[in-house]
Amino acid sequence: MSAEITKTGEALPALDFGHAWEYAPSPEATDHVRIAPRHELFVGGAWRQPHSSRYFDTISPSTEQKLAEVAEADERDVDDAVQAARRAYDRYWSRMPGRERAKFIFRIARAIQEKARELAIVETMDGGKPIKESRDVDLPLAAAHFFYHAGWADKLDYAFQGRAWRPLGVAGQIIPWNFPLLMAAWKVAPALACGNTVVLKPAETTPLTALLLARIVEEAELPPGVVNVVTGAGATGAALAAHPGVDKVAFTGSTDVGKKIQRAVAGTKKKLTLELGGKAANIVFADAPIDQAIEGIVGGIYFNQGHVCCAGSRLLVEESVHDLVVRKLRDRMATLRLGDPLDKNTDVGAINSGAQLARIRELVAAGEEDGAERYSAPCALPGKGFWFAPTFFTGVAQSSRIAREEIFGPVLSILTFRTPEEALEKANNTMYGLSAGIWSDKGAKIFWMAQRLKAGVVWGNTYNKFDPSSPFGGYKESGFGREGGRQGLLAYTEVGQ
Ligand code: NAI
Ligand code: MG
Repeated sequence: MSAEITKTGEALPALDFGHAWEYAPSPEATDHVRIAPRHELFVGGAWRQPHSSRYFDTISPSTEQKLAEVAEADERDVDDAVQAARRAYDRYWSRMPGRERAKFIFRIARAIQEKARELAIVETMDGGKPIKESRDVDLPLAAAHFFYHAGWADKLDYAFQGRAWRPLGVAGQIIPWNFPLLMAAWKVAPALACGNTVVLKPAETTPLTALLLARIVEEAELPPGVVNVVTGAGATGAALAAHPGVDKVAFTGSTDVGKKIQRAVAGTKKKLTLELGGKAANIVFADAPIDQAIEGIVGGIYFNQGHVCCAGSRLLVEESVHDLVVRKLRDRMATLRLGDPLDKNTDVGAINSGAQLARIRELVAAGEEDGAERYSAPCALPGKGFWFAPTFFTGVAQSSRIAREEIFGPVLSILTFRTPEEALEKANNTMYGLSAGIWSDKGAKIFWMAQRLKAGVVWGNTYNKFDPSSPFGGYKESGFGREGGRQGLLAYTEVGQ
């Protein structure tokens, strides 16, 4: 195309429509964020070296660059942390009036808000999720969780219909890598509000924001030992779950590890809550607002690279609109931007680890072998780091592994149904039961389905919406116990008859 001539006679550069809709790079500045090269354990209010003097690396999964070295806690370190938590429980935290505990928890909430930018950037660097999400989802929700539970700390006498209650003691909390700071908030905030002390074990690929939370706890001047953070991998988590001084174990992660923990605490007085995987059905009826549903489908599975236990990973679509939904979904997927997670325009970031990428690839290969038809969005994958293009499968059989197993990646399995009864039967035909979504113009249909779905959370004409006042948790092999809301307080209290 030749150059245009403006009225003043000045030549304008030719427009290249091939690039007219590319966004210029818009990376979040990181120069104000300093990640210390080495991180110690936070035990009894002090930063301490691990007994073994061993450290492991945490990397950025989008660049494979090392970000820092992190202490590896062994059994002795875990024992120190549990003892510190016990002392803090006996001396300070269990004796402190709720209104005083509330002040400390409010301080933590406000500090998270004040440091939100730094926390979001570190979250994105350490775990690979888009900055848009860590900034707009993880951080506001983490602060909200502390605010909400600070509000409960002095009102617990009214939480259980006047029944007497007491805290449990020391809580050992093991969290995953998909929402590192938010999962820490889900665990720590209710425990503290109810008068328990905490030993927190973040995931080995994403320990940095839990360590920043420990700094916040230190700056908020909580009594030493009320919150302890021990870093390490599975062995550290196993030592924490098995420690006889722990009164309560809370775990979010894989079903396999959840079962191991359940075996480890069997026959002890420990209380246990487990939040394990999911294989949620996102159900689209022909009368649904289809464009709105497409946004919900895309957000339901491609949000956070599908590293979401309640991801809408099985799309059940009414047969008469199947082709329309698939076409619109393809069109929408072509506009998703995959790449640098620190870029403010990125929709799809990096897969959290090489191990997780290998698991996703294995299951996608199994889907292809089973004869399902694969479509992957046409995005260029960066050369370095761990990436997987948003993908869906059509023609998926219920017996296929991709319809049954948690993929925990940006991969959607599409199935069809003809009647609400068939949709219900297919949706419930899973060992999991964490969440589900329903898209329909008819409120009555949504309520009919919601009452019969065996899922802890059911969204109607929306997906992946969270609020600290709304309890979250599963049925069947998705685990037991609830987090958030008044029901979530039960996980950290002993309530009288
Ligand atoms: P994982 O269950 O091994 O890791 C979660 C946490 O448990 C981490 O902090 C880890 O260090 C700890 N851990 C590992 N082994 C342990 C043990 N024996 N005792 C105590 N703690 C232990 O999950 P992984 O291997 O990273 O992911 C595997 C699959 O699990 C994923 O593909 C996904 O399907 C599922 N998953 C589900 C999550 C959820 O939110 N429900 C979160 C993370 C993974
Ligand atoms: Mg990392």
